[in-house]
Amino acid sequence: MVRVVIALSMVASLTYAYTLNPQMQEFMGTLLSEAKKQNPNLKEFDYARGEKIFTTDQIGKKGKKISCVTCHTTDLSKNGLNENTNKVIKPLSPSANPARFSDVKEVKKWLRRNFQDVYNREGTAQEQGDVITYIINKK
Ligand code: HEC
Repeated sequence: MVRVVIALSMVASLTYAYTLNPQMQEFMGTLLSEAKKQNPNLKEFDYARGEKIFTTDQIGKKGKKISCVTCHTTDLSKNGLNENTNKVIKPLSPSANPARFSDVKEVKKWLRRNFQDVYNREGTAQEQGDVITYIINKK
């Protein structure tokens, strides 16, 4: 069992370039076990599924077309712009902005709020894990 866990974490670190801090890694672990409860076939979070969640237009909370890209753009290493308030949003990519994905509370709060803005509901554990996987590894 221990050997399996080590093998899996090696695969994960090879697949994904960005290393989260221990608190965030623990949060991702919690999300993954929650997601597996809802979907027993799930193996791991997926960049491509996360990309789709991030880039697909929805009819959002305000009844208008919106996606995560609307405020954060597709270049996550650059500033975004908040559609609602016209305020600049610092880059979402932790490689460009190390404060990102360093504070679990902050990440949970904004994911909850932003999923509501775009999807009119909270993201599932799988959706949250997929979208984080996409954001932190996007080049
Ligand atoms: C209406 C504009 C808007 C939309 C749409 C939006 N966001 Fe955000 N997002 C923000 C703002 C504002 C912040 C907080 C300000 C900041 O941290 O710079 C934020 C912060 C975040 C953070 C916090 C990261 C950290 O560690 O600080 C994450 C993660 C995030 N957004 C993901 C998403 C995802 C995923 C979507 C799509 C489901 C999305 N956002 C859609 C405006 C938006």
